[in-house]
Amino acid sequence: MIRSDSPFHPDNDDAYLSWREAKLRGYPQRIEDLVVKVADPKALTAEEHAALLERCRKTNMAIYAGPDLGEDKDVPRLMGRQFGLEHLDANLMSDEDDITTLTVAENGEKKGEFIPYTDRPIRWHTDGYYNRPERRILGMMLHCAAPAHEGGANALLDHDILYLLLRDESPDHIRALMQEDAMSIPARMDENGVARPQESGPVFSTLPGGQLHMRYTARTRSIAWKQDAATQAAVAAIDKLLGQDLPWKFQHRLEAGMGLLCNNVLHDRTSFVDTPEHKRIMYRARYHDRIGQT
Ligand SMILES: [Fe+2]
Repeated sequence: MIRSDSPFHPDNDDAYLSWREAKLRGYPQRIEDLVVKVADPKALTAEEHAALLERCRKTNMAIYAGPDLGEDKDVPRLMGRQFGLEHLDANLMSDEDDITTLTVAENGEKKGEFIPYTDRPIRWHTDGYYNRPERRILGMMLHCAAPAHEGGANALLDHDILYLLLRDESPDHIRALMQEDAMSIPARMDENGVARPQESGPVFSTLPGGQLHMRYTARTRSIAWKQDAATQAAVAAIDKLLGQDLPWKFQHRLEAGMGLLCNNVLHDRTSFVDTPEHKRIMYRARYHDRIGQT
């Protein structure tokens, strides 16, 4: 339950307005403002660490730009650890170390049934929106070992900002999206029966530390929204905002050695083209922790 003194409580206008003012004050409007050059991503200097943390505190995300170290999964693992990201989420397709290697599946490979393992675009979402509450994905990293020949860029939007825009439009959107049954993910079946049970939950919730958490996907398949008018209106409002140009929305393509460090902000992915010489390799790490001190 959301506490009544939280700025995210839809009836608490005073706290909301001061949170809103602080949030928008000096908010970066160019992707360059989020990028921090780092010499050794596995062992950041105090200045590099502070610069990344400052960005994460403001926008829930930062991009580090390190040297091209090729296929080295220690980079995301050790980068995460320096920000208190320790508890990796295991999922069906992750590697033994729970960091997932995202590449285009070869013909006939089972994982090719899942969009991340294709070269197709991915619509707006937060990671792990289908996870149970105790396995919520709070932190996320995407590290680029090798970019595609062409494409594969991400749009990024701080979920705090989306909340703010929706609430400014109508606090009723927030009330609808905080309902425990706002969004349901039907069970996923495989040859052994139920691979994942149905999950229902809110879009917006607050964490024990008071921060805002968001579960969302713009996918229309494998998702069921509550059929009341308020939820339908709120979902349409999200859809409209995500389709617009907003000064807080960033576009970026990760190049080799770069990575996104974030509190599971909203993101999408454009389609891309691999060639035999340039195949996209991304490492994705999902955590049950938020970035420390954010
Ligand atoms: Fe994602």
